[in-house]
Amino acid sequence: MGDRIVVTGGAGFIGSHLADALVARGDEVHVLDNLATGRRSQVPEGATFHELDVSDVDAVARLAEQIGPVARWYHLAAQADVRVSVEDPAFDARVNVIGTISVLAAARLHGAPVTFASTGGAIYGEVDAPADEEHPQLPPSPYGAAKLAGEVFLAQDSRLNGARHAVVRYANVYGPRQDPHGEAGVVAIFAGRVLAGRAATIFGDGEQVRDYVYVGDVVAATIAAADAAAAGTDDDLREGGLRIPVYNVGTGVATSVVELWDAVERVHGSSLERDFQPKREGEILRSVIDASRARTRLGVSFDTPLEDGLAATIQWLSSRDEAPASRV
Ligand SMILES: NC(=O)c1ccc[n+]([C@@H]2O[C@H](COP(=O)([O-])OP(=O)(O)OC[C@H]3O[C@@H](n4cnc5c(N)ncnc54)[C@H](O)[C@@H]3O)[C@@H](O)[C@H]2O)c1
Repeated sequence: MGDRIVVTGGAGFIGSHLADALVARGDEVHVLDNLATGRRSQVPEGATFHELDVSDVDAVARLAEQIGPVARWYHLAAQADVRVSVEDPAFDARVNVIGTISVLAAARLHGAPVTFASTGGAIYGEVDAPADEEHPQLPPSPYGAAKLAGEVFLAQDSRLNGARHAVVRYANVYGPRQDPHGEAGVVAIFAGRVLAGRAATIFGDGEQVRDYVYVGDVVAATIAAADAAAAGTDDDLREGGLRIPVYNVGTGVATSVVELWDAVERVHGSSLERDFQPKREGEILRSVIDASRARTRLGVSFDTPLEDGLAATIQWLSSRDEAPASRV
């Protein structure tokens, strides 16, 4: 048996792929999730499922006591819908800030390090060129602000207790099991549209660009960040305890909405209408991140070709009874 691991949000899109990978490498995996957006069916069979609200500090501490010494926590449970955060910032902060504080307190019980799933685009905001980790942090939404606050709490906990925490800042993650409401939701929506033979709705001129990174590459980078923390190969990024390692996770490639729709159509072999609608106020026009640090330091790559990842996503959606995008 490998290490005992907790994955919060392990019933969700990225967390369930992460839990799969950890089970496959022989770890004892505990998934903590309240199924707000996750699905019980996505938790791997080899993992133990705990239905819990991550912001319930006492319940999470009780769980940590109950399962015994944990080697690592991966904290992915989140309210990940930017629009919800704008409508109800207090709810967002309860899940994303209090939830992170709750995980830190539980992990401290056995001195376990936490690897925290943060966000690139929602922290850097509008960018001119691919943003590296030192780019000014200007979160345009309460969601981005809450994620940044979570990072600050990790760093503070690390300074105080010497815990080897790490942060991974994801770009727009896509792939099988993704929900249309996440940061890369447009991929799930477009995939659902081609399967339903319906036109794409494109807001504005469709020239807004994002950095789409495949979920398999994201999982590999997340595990590699935790491995580097455990092996101590990231000590220089800790600067004697002053900082914690932060890694961008993305391709650095800018793909516009129109290019994405073209690629989805190409992969599916269809040619449908485009329904251009007025641009959405406040939408970021350019969000691309520079993941050179993760590539060189962690030895990971983000090279899954967009068309291969889209093919896997469309195939997964078509194998489901009800495509989520058909509800959007
Ligand atoms: N998908 C992306 O493009 C993207 C980009 C940047 C960052 N992230 C981050 O990656 C992580 C995973 O995102 P995802 O896309 O898989 O989203 P997701 O919604 O599929 O996963 C989040 C999981 O957290 C669970 N959850 C929500 N509130 C909870 C609570 N109070 N208690 C316990 N569990 C709770 C949900 O049920 C779900 O299973 C999140 O932290 C998200 O902020 C995602």
